[in-house]
Amino acid sequence: AAPTDYESEAATISQGAVEKNHAGYSGTGFVNFDNVVGSYVEYTVNAAQAGTQTLTFRYANGTTVDRPVSLSINGTAAGTLSFPGTGAWTTWKTVTKDVALAAGANKIRTTATTAEGGPNADKLTASGVSDAEAPTP
Ligand code: GCU
Repeated sequence: AAPTDYESEAATISQGAVEKNHAGYSGTGFVNFDNVVGSYVEYTVNAAQAGTQTLTFRYANGTTVDRPVSLSINGTAAGTLSFPGTGAWTTWKTVTKDVALAAGANKIRTTATTAEGGPNADKLTASGVSDAEAPTP
């Protein structure tokens, strides 16, 4: 099935701002997490059926220090994601994780766990056996 993109600027943002000042993002901008523990971006990923999907997070981190986040899916903790430095705020890279999703709408929340906040978040792409014909939100 075709991967589906979920732009961070269209997600639910708590303690963060949509910005455009570093080139190379997709869509109309990216989310700059506030530099605090607990800032988050929550995407709603629609799955046509329950099953495993690969989540690909596109991000930039112009520092040399990791910007880890905790991942939760529908309110349940689902591990952590590491977002190491990419070399520049205009250099965008991806981090992937396979997760189990339920049929229908899934709340995918990435929450900063350090005082530096999360990375600059461009988009989430979901792909897998169970995203076939899933509607775009
Ligand atoms: C800089 C950069 C921002 C980034 C921030 C940070 O201000 O321009 O895009 O989000 O650093 O450290 O989080």
